[in-house]
Amino acid sequence: MQIAITREVSRSIAQCELTHLSRVQIDLELARSQHQRYQQALAELGCEVVSLEEQPELPDSVFVEDVAIVLDECAVITRPGADSRRPESDSIARKLSEYRKLVYIEAPGTLDGGDVLRVGKTLFVGLSGRSNRAAIDQLRALIAPYGYTVKAAEVSGCLHLKSAVSQAAENTLLVNPRWVNPADFGDFEWLEIDPAEEYAANTLLIGKSIIYPTSFPRTRQLLEQRGIRVVAVEVSELQKAEGAVTCCSLVFTQPVTSA
Ligand code: GLY
Repeated sequence: MQIAITREVSRSIAQCELTHLSRVQIDLELARSQHQRYQQALAELGCEVVSLEEQPELPDSVFVEDVAIVLDECAVITRPGADSRRPESDSIARKLSEYRKLVYIEAPGTLDGGDVLRVGKTLFVGLSGRSNRAAIDQLRALIAPYGYTVKAAEVSGCLHLKSAVSQAAENTLLVNPRWVNPADFGDFEWLEIDPAEEYAANTLLIGKSIIYPTSFPRTRQLLEQRGIRVVAVEVSELQKAEGAVTCCSLVFTQPVTSA
């Protein structure tokens, strides 16, 4: 069974962090209804959705992915790169402690989960404006005992590594080659986004399907031509907050325990 932890959209989302986008008005009710549909898509794909209550004082708190990395053996509580986002960690840590042993990234390390692309036992970590080498070194030491390899990857022009590259199928990565160097990622099949859709490289793989924004029809066509099943969701308001589909959930497997 897969668990998907989400959090309701904060009423203060209009005050979110923005790095590469200009601030434009966000329709809160529309953001909430889009988020609701996103959660439905997770449920339709077989996830048990654990939806946490709104954090009114934390504008970016819907983007739960950034505060933790959940592996089979433990959950790494990150130390987000933006000061305003650090208070998001506590309640996610409390919830994750129901499922996993917790370990922590500590200062001077900074790490956003959006910079971490896990494929099997390898974690690629973006050196972005939010995540630094100190955190990568800590992460490597924390999870090496479980057999994971951690590799740094340069990223430029976007907020997070997964703005530039994400997993679209078992052995296929969806990439914007203007923001990362595919050679940093080893031996995968590559699918390049349509160049007219520069934010199109973020997709959330659940089983054999992907949750994918409706706003990138050209890249969606390329995905479908590869035989990838797309569940399309409208996320325009979350995109205005520099969010994407991976950011809004923490998805992990809960082993079935016999009674
Ligand atoms: N607004 C998303 C972030 O900057 O973390």
